[in-house]
Amino acid sequence: MPAEPSCPPLPGSTRDWWRNAVIYQVYVRSFADSDGDGIGDLDGVRARLPYLRSLGVDGLWLNPFYPSPQHDHGYDVSDYRGVQPEYGTLESFDRLIRDAHRLDLKVIIDVVPNHCSIEHPWFVEALAAGPGSPARARFHFADGQGEYGELPPNNWRSIFGGSAWQRVPARSWGGEGIERSQWYLHTFAAEQPDFNWRHPDVSSYFEDVLRYWLDRGVDGLRIDVAHGLHKADGLPDHEHADHDELTGDPVNPHAWNQPEVHEVWRSWRAIADEYTRRTGRERVLVGEVGLLDTEQLAQYQRPDELHQTFYFEFLRAEWDDEALYDVIDRGLGTIARSGSSVAWVLNNHDMPRSVTRYAGGAPGAGPGDLDLGLARARAAALLMLALPGSSYLYQGEELGLPEVTDLPEHLLTDPMFHRSGGVRRGRDGCRVPLPWRAAHDTFGFSPNGTPGTTWLPQPDWFAEHAADQLLVSGDSMLHLYREALALRHRIPALTSGDLRWLPTEPGVLAFTRGDGFVCVVNCLPRPVCNPVDGALLIASDPEAGDKLPPNSAVWILPPDGT
Ligand code: GLC
Repeated sequence: MPAEPSCPPLPGSTRDWWRNAVIYQVYVRSFADSDGDGIGDLDGVRARLPYLRSLGVDGLWLNPFYPSPQHDHGYDVSDYRGVQPEYGTLESFDRLIRDAHRLDLKVIIDVVPNHCSIEHPWFVEALAAGPGSPARARFHFADGQGEYGELPPNNWRSIFGGSAWQRVPARSWGGEGIERSQWYLHTFAAEQPDFNWRHPDVSSYFEDVLRYWLDRGVDGLRIDVAHGLHKADGLPDHEHADHDELTGDPVNPHAWNQPEVHEVWRSWRAIADEYTRRTGRERVLVGEVGLLDTEQLAQYQRPDELHQTFYFEFLRAEWDDEALYDVIDRGLGTIARSGSSVAWVLNNHDMPRSVTRYAGGAPGAGPGDLDLGLARARAAALLMLALPGSSYLYQGEELGLPEVTDLPEHLLTDPMFHRSGGVRRGRDGCRVPLPWRAAHDTFGFSPNGTPGTTWLPQPDWFAEHAADQLLVSGDSMLHLYREALALRHRIPALTSGDLRWLPTEPGVLAFTRGDGFVCVVNCLPRPVCNPVDGALLIASDPEAGDKLPPNSAVWILPPDGT
């Protein structure tokens, strides 16, 4: 595939497109299956691009589709420059990019730099090469503690549960067996060895990977665990680790958020900017940074680092006006101050779906009150889409899909479930293949007439959420998203106006964007009087008018500003 030609920048063309973009996250495995094997694929995504266009999003982010033994569904990459055969080929990827661009949709892909797969050639080489070899220096291999090296080198725990160290099977490098076998670090599953980012091969390898996909035409990269990569020198014990072996340790100060990681993002930003200049198309970097401190998070999106990071605090907030006010205000205050814009998120492939969270349900614990959950999720969607910045939607969010909370345990595939000894149910319930057509086998996920088994089973009630059903029902979640996204494109205040909070009674949030747009959210379980006059643009609850029903939101055009 030829590298993209060098072109003068198009004056003012698509610069800053990401600041207010709405991006749709595609979990490739579960989006649409074109060849009938029950597993989603790139041609399936391509066939549904017109659906995304009519939904009104500005682009899509593809979860990892690279060759991988799938221990963590593609987040264990064995080849950073290819396509997993069950998802397609490099040619299907190129066709997808080409068609997306024809429809004026941006394409962001996932890159996983913190760790690879145990099947990555470097790791295979490292195992074979033995202790002390240059090949092992690209990872974190260390001798164990204890008389025979039988204890892990330190007390770090894997995010998925258990120790963050795996002992190398003795003799795997053809040694005598007298030499004690070493351990390697994996902050996620044992099949995901962490790279040693202090080794120069690692940074130059990933710069090549970045250029490879930018040359193939992607508009941006979503960076997996972007606060990971470097580990504290000497890999010291985590002093305050509680010793619950089963749960993860996302706050270990020696494993996360090391100062050196910012240098990596500066060098990646320079590469992205170089492509922007050369091709006139702005390329962006969006980080998954799992830090709770908003000030620290903002450091990752300084003007010469990542363009954006997901703002997960919004997703974590309870359905409560004070909690929502606090996270929104904090996000806008700190992140926007860094010169960037907030990337709001309500759902993704790692979290129970919002309908279920707001319903009080949870994986393994039951669905909760789904009417309540749906009402709140509809209101939350209008709230999010009215906020300054960009939004990331997760496939099925626009269908109002709840989590599948009762998948049988023997079908669960998430390493989190297995490594936690079943204590944490894991993320399969938000990854069940999407329902497209109520009356078809597999609800239209796979072509009709094919064997009809999807990689995770779809419950019967998915029929009620099938896209074709929702399209003919005027007040469906799908229509709500389509209309809200169309309004976002039509009303300039929604992409340019600053947010100003309006005084309200307790339990209610209201704000303006610029002059002439107001969003009101009633978080209470009872109706309230609508505090704002004007034309109703859209409502999460069809009964909204002078009164706002419980758990509802509205967008209003006031007669002459506020
Ligand atoms: C990120 C991904 C998650 C994956 C993990 C390890 O958090 O979003 O799905 O399991 O990284 O790569």
